[in-house]
Amino acid sequence: MKYPVSFYINGVQYDFYVTPATSLLSLLRKDTHMTGAKEGCNQGDCGSCTVLLDGMAVKACLVPALTIAGRHVITVEGLAVNGKLNPLQQAFYEMGAPQCGYCTPGFLMAAQGLLNKNPKAGHEEIVEAISGNLCRCTGYYKYIQAIEAVVAGKFAKEEVDDG
Ligand code: FES
Ligand code: FES
Repeated sequence: MKYPVSFYINGVQYDFYVTPATSLLSLLRKDTHMTGAKEGCNQGDCGSCTVLLDGMAVKACLVPALTIAGRHVITVEGLAVNGKLNPLQQAFYEMGAPQCGYCTPGFLMAAQGLLNKNPKAGHEEIVEAISGNLCRCTGYYKYIQAIEAVVAGKFAKEEVDDG
């Protein structure tokens, strides 16, 4: 049995018919073809599917689509505005944070969720905010450095919460 649900993705309203088991991640990747949120473990362990839900970082594989009617989702595709990279994207890029890049969208969204809550987040908060994101390549250090650089104002900051 499928049920209607509508919510916003990167500022655009979408209407879906979904089962109670349909996850936000599944809709993003299969129905809207926004594949920035990666499907790693599909059970909440890796963080590669992280998106913002009303400004807070969530793991899209754990969010039943039926539970988010009317709410605002931002995916990594929604971070850049008019072709201008978001400050975290710019920092990750300029500071060479990613290696293979598979985990990078998840790290970007987890970091953005943190900065939406606390633009002055300290080292421990940054480490905590990305603690649910796994990376097999980088050792995390450059990601942390890049987020700290954004907090320090080396890249212009902006809030991304509802498109
Ligand atoms: S795919 Fe969602 S946490 Fe791994
Ligand atoms: S950069 Fe390869 S998994 Fe993180």
